[in-house]
Amino acid sequence: MKERLVALRDDALKELGAAGDPGVLNELRVKYLGKKGLLTEILRGMGSLSAEERPVIGQVANDVRAAIEAVIDEKSAEFARAETARRLATETIDVTLPGRPAPNGALHPLTKIVQEIEDIFIGMGFAVAEGPEVETDYYNFEAMNLPKGHPARDMQDSFYITDDILLRTHTSPVQARSMEARKGETPLKIICPGKVYRRDDDDPTHSHQFMQIEGLVVDKGIRISDLKGTLLQFAREMFGPNVQIRLRPSFFPFTEPSAEVDVSCVICGGKGCRVCKHSGWLEILGSGMVHPRVLSMSGYDPEKVSGFAFGMGVERIAMLRYGIEDIRHFYTNDVRFLRQFART
Ligand code: PHE
Repeated sequence: MKERLVALRDDALKELGAAGDPGVLNELRVKYLGKKGLLTEILRGMGSLSAEERPVIGQVANDVRAAIEAVIDEKSAEFARAETARRLATETIDVTLPGRPAPNGALHPLTKIVQEIEDIFIGMGFAVAEGPEVETDYYNFEAMNLPKGHPARDMQDSFYITDDILLRTHTSPVQARSMEARKGETPLKIICPGKVYRRDDDDPTHSHQFMQIEGLVVDKGIRISDLKGTLLQFAREMFGPNVQIRLRPSFFPFTEPSAEVDVSCVICGGKGCRVCKHSGWLEILGSGMVHPRVLSMSGYDPEKVSGFAFGMGVERIAMLRYGIEDIRHFYTNDVRFLRQFART
């Protein structure tokens, strides 16, 4: 039996010596050491051995198993090393290759200006309100003291959807909506940014879709000096501490009196230049004291409270701030234009 074991070991070592890959190695492990392998087969004869022989043969069998296992371990380590070396050689990573840049998103210049304006008014205690872009004739016109057939409706050429529904032509309907929602409570102090629509032909200063920011304050004892002080503070935070404003009499059906507000030219400082058409002033918004009828239609008593309102064009402010010459740039979405605002 001892001879058979030694012969088995020699056969195994020879075959293992010739094994060229892990697959063959595994087959040999099964063939010699497996549960139904050759070693087990020989050891099955142990039962017929004498009590003295048994430990001796047992020892030999263990040595044979150990010798075969040692070679298998050594060879599989060798195969693993060869595999690692092969992969290192073929799967090279060029760590000097530049990385792929991840494109950064950026806010649209109009979004930035809206946020800036909101921050200024929030700092003065205003809340931000919103309203629908698809609006009823009632809120867009009637509640703003523009009854059907009123000639001033022609100031704002409209996109009608039905006789009664249109794309809002200004953010002023949010005045009425906010007052209704507050049910006569004071103080009411809101701004409302949003898109508005007018049937205009697009050109460097007109767009059929543009943005406005509406402002409304209603409280006891609100005076035109409050309007002026608020807008002066806004103009200085927006355009610089030395900016002046002036109010020019104007007309809006929903305010009385009404005023157009100019800022001293942010380009030339008021000396006169091409941008201000040599007047030294730039018109930036419409404003006025809320018309008593507008207050009463939306649930406020004009005998007890008063208010002021204003509405400004966001594109106009952005064009002055950034020196943009054509309003259409905001809507054609040329990335070369938009990218310029990515870091400002
Ligand atoms: N809604 C006016 C417009 O679009 C602007 C405005 C708002 C004027 C509030 C006065 C008060 O032209």
